[in-house]
Amino acid sequence: MDSGRSIRMLRQENQGGVMPERPYVIDQMISAKSIAARIEELSSEIEAEYAGTDKLVVVGLLRGSFVFIADLVRELDLPVEVDFLEASSYGNTMESSREVRILKDLRGEIERRDILVVEDIVDTGHTLTHVMHLLESRNPAKLKTIALLDKPSRREAQIKADWIGFSIPDEFVVGYGIDFAQRNRNLPFIGKVRFEE
Ligand code: IMP
Ligand code: MG
Repeated sequence: MDSGRSIRMLRQENQGGVMPERPYVIDQMISAKSIAARIEELSSEIEAEYAGTDKLVVVGLLRGSFVFIADLVRELDLPVEVDFLEASSYGNTMESSREVRILKDLRGEIERRDILVVEDIVDTGHTLTHVMHLLESRNPAKLKTIALLDKPSRREAQIKADWIGFSIPDEFVVGYGIDFAQRNRNLPFIGKVRFEE
């Protein structure tokens, strides 16, 4: 993985209590270039898996996957439709929650369709497990998953994405769509959060 680039986030005045209270530094972990190269590799595998499909519905889990799904679908030489689903997540803390709720459901039907679920990070695995059970109950033709990042050491639910961009250690990461209390989604790379004294 890459390093060498850091960004310092200063303390912000309390805006409704949602901002991180301590200043932190973001150290680059995976560069934009490495992400792009990995997406190219994964897209060829996905194309092979779904070759001949009449339509692939790519389902992005909001909000963290929005940058990843945008780059991924542009590499897919397949008939693609895009839909989104939002499951409840950490809120504004760094703690995961076992209780998963669907905040926004798909717009389209997925019965007998080929589906690819796109997640930003599989951490404890509860979110993806819940979403997969829900989608399976709607009888899709083929249902597979891709996660940009995987933190296997944090897993609590028995689940693994079919394709994984990068397996990472137990670090809190931001960038490339992924946030810390809604900040840093617009960083072009993946970085890890490091609190300063
Ligand atoms: P899980 O249900 O514990 O697998 O949580 C998955 C969700 O938690 C991801 O889709 C992210 O939204 C969030 N998450 C997990 N790890 C991180 C992280 O390091 N930074 C930011 N969000 C994270
Ligand atoms: Mg998420």
